[in-house]
Amino acid sequence: MEQPTNLAGLDLRAEIDRLRRERNAVILAHYYQKPEIQDLADFVGDSLDLSRKAADTDADVIAFCGVRFMAETAKILSPQKTVVLPDMDAGCSLEDSCPPEQFAAFRAQHPDAIALTYINCSAEVKGLSDVIVTSSSAEKILSQIPADQPIIFGPDRNLGGYLARKTGRDLILWPGVCIVHEAFSETELLKLKAQHPGAPVAAHPECPAVILDHADYVGSTRGILDYAMAMPGDTLIVATEPHIIHQMEKALPNKTFIGAPGADGNCNCNICPYMALNTMEKLYVALRDLTPRIEIEEDLRLRAKKSLDAMLAMASGSVGLGDLGPVRVTGD
Ligand code: 13P
Ligand code: SF4
Repeated sequence: MEQPTNLAGLDLRAEIDRLRRERNAVILAHYYQKPEIQDLADFVGDSLDLSRKAADTDADVIAFCGVRFMAETAKILSPQKTVVLPDMDAGCSLEDSCPPEQFAAFRAQHPDAIALTYINCSAEVKGLSDVIVTSSSAEKILSQIPADQPIIFGPDRNLGGYLARKTGRDLILWPGVCIVHEAFSETELLKLKAQHPGAPVAAHPECPAVILDHADYVGSTRGILDYAMAMPGDTLIVATEPHIIHQMEKALPNKTFIGAPGADGNCNCNICPYMALNTMEKLYVALRDLTPRIEIEEDLRLRAKKSLDAMLAMASGSVGLGDLGPVRVTGD
């Protein structure tokens, strides 16, 4: 999408605040958004917390500063609300790696398996899944599934591999990856660790195993933030998208947070190109014109909602898979 023009001279921050009030809108932002967007959001969070906020808000409009699958999740959970995404091209490489027809065929190859699916996927793939997970809820949800139940896990093979190693479960993995977390370099990380002896590494489970092997903590974006808040030392190496460091620096200005490097030795290649498409200008236009707007056909929404409802229930620990009724889909 083109950058909106002729907004010169506008006080974007003030205009966004005015529109937010006029439209009874809530601005939800992911930790990977640019600092100026994080700073004006009503709520900044990880995928699970953003889903919960979207399900609970009484605003009329949700302006979702994140990527498309996150805004779609908000619409699936809150269909009566208008959901806008500043740039409709804000996709995700994990979603792209998992076309619904191929995922349905994969399911059909494993008829006894249930599909535990990472939230970073399309609404169609959610509709073909039994339970959605986020990186912060995956382990808790997995622990509620009987040990002898075969499980397909997609689309992130790194998160799936991490869960399999950590829990000893035998997961059938879909071969997708996040291009951002794949870009970290083990060689450069080891050099950085040598420069900062004693500094722990906190990594997102979307990182490949060669990076996770060097991590002192592995968790979701919120988990990494919580780890930073509690760590006794004064330097942390952060192996996830570097915009999350903004929250750390705001909360702990006297500590040092260093983005883990890619092959070129710095962390700029680990900026998510999809998240970066959202700008203040586009957010202003989205609130002004209520477009680009997320629309999901009702039949698809209801199919996708089932697996998201299962996630919200299991993530809060209130039910096991057996209590959720016949959530298995055939995949054909
Ligand atoms: P979190 O659920 O940890 O916020 O992760 C979302 C994501 O897209 C990471 O790349
Ligand atoms: Fe998708 Fe990776 Fe960007 Fe997260 S960081 S939105 S997984 S491309």
